[in-house]
Amino acid sequence: MPNKIRAAITGVHGWVPEDKLTNFDLEKMVDTNDEWITSRTGIKERRILRKPGWATSDMCAEAVKGLLEKTGTRPEEVEMLIIGTITGDMIFPDTANTVCDKIGAKNAFGYDINAACSGFLYALATGAQFVANETYKKVVVVGADMMSSIIDYTDRNTCVIFGDGAAAVLLEPRADGTGIQDFVLRADGSGREFLFMKSGGSKSPPTPETVANREHFVYQDGKRVFKYAVEGMVTTVREVLKRNQLDVGDIDWVIPHQANMRIINSVAENLKVPMEKVTINISKYGNTTAGTLGLCMWEYEDRFKKGDNIILTAFGGGFTWGSLYLKWAY
Ligand code: COA
Repeated sequence: MPNKIRAAITGVHGWVPEDKLTNFDLEKMVDTNDEWITSRTGIKERRILRKPGWATSDMCAEAVKGLLEKTGTRPEEVEMLIIGTITGDMIFPDTANTVCDKIGAKNAFGYDINAACSGFLYALATGAQFVANETYKKVVVVGADMMSSIIDYTDRNTCVIFGDGAAAVLLEPRADGTGIQDFVLRADGSGREFLFMKSGGSKSPPTPETVANREHFVYQDGKRVFKYAVEGMVTTVREVLKRNQLDVGDIDWVIPHQANMRIINSVAENLKVPMEKVTINISKYGNTTAGTLGLCMWEYEDRFKKGDNIILTAFGGGFTWGSLYLKWAY
């Protein structure tokens, strides 16, 4: 019997801005210090997009152009492009269409998915369906956020955490057992009051008052988010392992959302996964929201082997969260 067709990641590429914002820079901006930020978050520096006129679509376009070159794919071959982001260039039109135009993907359609830090995971699970059911053969999935555009650099609770970045993967069909095997995605809208941007949407359109009250920035109840993040990632990883009759020992790599080093440590500890199997780059980039999972994959790509069992897990605003199990394809 022929093997089932699955969507496999056949290439990954990331892009981050050159400009760095270090903990020492932040010491000059708000009442904080390198020791506090390092011990509480594990972050040393983040990248900030300061190129005049550049926005999320430009970071995505750079990541996708690199991906297409690396995988020998012509832009016209891309059939679908999905972007996980909460910092699209504009409220409409969506950023996926802009990116298709910027990279010359004339035959593609696409859309953005708003699931905050789980954006890449949601987009990956979505794109994989179109490949696994044989509708399309080349789907690009991007996770990208220009968090610097919605961060209040006078608020020490949030400005030390976030950074800018983008990463893209190519999904193609494979019948050799590799590719995306399973996922568990969750959402709980009652979490919306703990991590959100108050104004700018239809509930509270922009006015001089909303701007004066600094309502167009990220607000979060860090402690609560921390607790739910650990719980959500651990529970869904366990669920996906159980559904696939896997033990923790069968896992070669865990790619966790890079929200806070203490969250990553706590997830690994709860799952009893040794830290050598956990991908980490938070010290360099901070939390790039939908960018983190792809950027980790990009950095660790050389260490992955064909057939490796990899678990991706994320938690973000919404609340949204989940875990995805794949077998590395190359
Ligand atoms: N520098 C110095 N002190 C700071 C600070 C900073 N950048 N940010 C907060 N503090 C202060 C607080 O004001 C508080 O002071 P107080 O005790 O006088 O009130 C103290 O440090 C402790 O704050 P607390 O919020 O309890 O710290 P924490 O250990 O929970 O760490 C976060 C704060 C934000 C780093 C942490 O809660 C976190 O990472 N949460 C998850 C955030 C996240 O990942 N969000 C993205 C979506 S997944």
